[in-house]
Amino acid sequence: MEKIVILTGAGLSAESGLGTFRDEGGLWAQHRIEDVATPEGFARNPQLVHDFYNARRAQAAEATPNDAHHALARLQREFDGEVVIVTQNVDGLHEKAGSSVIHMHGALTGALCASCDHRWPAPLEMAPGQICPSCGAPQGRPDIVWFGEMPYFMDEIAEHLAGCTVFAAIGTSGQVYPAAGFVQEARYAGADTVELNLNSTDVSRAFTRHLIGPASEIVPQWVAELV
Ligand code: OAD
Repeated sequence: MEKIVILTGAGLSAESGLGTFRDEGGLWAQHRIEDVATPEGFARNPQLVHDFYNARRAQAAEATPNDAHHALARLQREFDGEVVIVTQNVDGLHEKAGSSVIHMHGALTGALCASCDHRWPAPLEMAPGQICPSCGAPQGRPDIVWFGEMPYFMDEIAEHLAGCTVFAAIGTSGQVYPAAGFVQEARYAGADTVELNLNSTDVSRAFTRHLIGPASEIVPQWVAELV
């Protein structure tokens, strides 16, 4: 049976009005990664980190999926085979389009206890000292994977990659590992590999096929080839 594994990144949601990280003027040009996306930054200044993710959460709550998200949901519904979507995005737009996805970098809708790892739905606004409903520690944080932390579901993802016949990376710069290495794992499995992006990336050479353009145009075209 055909099995497609798709890795998505911030470029997929760019046309929904959500900024990417590394494009010109992106989030990492406006905020220091060490301050807002590391456990050390959170320990130093939790208010700053909550402010950053509260703003992201509010934006994501307002955002709607674009034609690329809808096309991927269609692929999951109509493809004659398995379609696994692994996303680095925390914005929830795949779900709004009707897809089921693996959130390897967490989600803005989740809260995580830094003390006991309990998870619960995040309120729209989080604040320092948020009480964990399980252990009572005042250590609630966004359930987002930060730099220096292990992404979620890595064993499950490795199994999917080992069994895939097609691997696609959409709107991701290939600068953050382990996700940037998925294309190699898919190649070892003998999969066809395709990169869909506005530009070429650091890992473009690893792909056999390239579709260049805005996700809202090239993703629906690619999906139309497959269903
Ligand atoms: P980046 O900001 O690094 O890369 C965005 C990619 O999307 C670039 O390759 C752009 O060329 C492409 N792009 C931009 N607009 C596009 C469009 N309309 N259509 C198609 N492609 C477009 O974002 P990610 O690769 O997702 O992690 O970043 C990976 C991780 O780094 C994120 O999950 C986040 C960040 O630090 C954490 O916060 C843990």
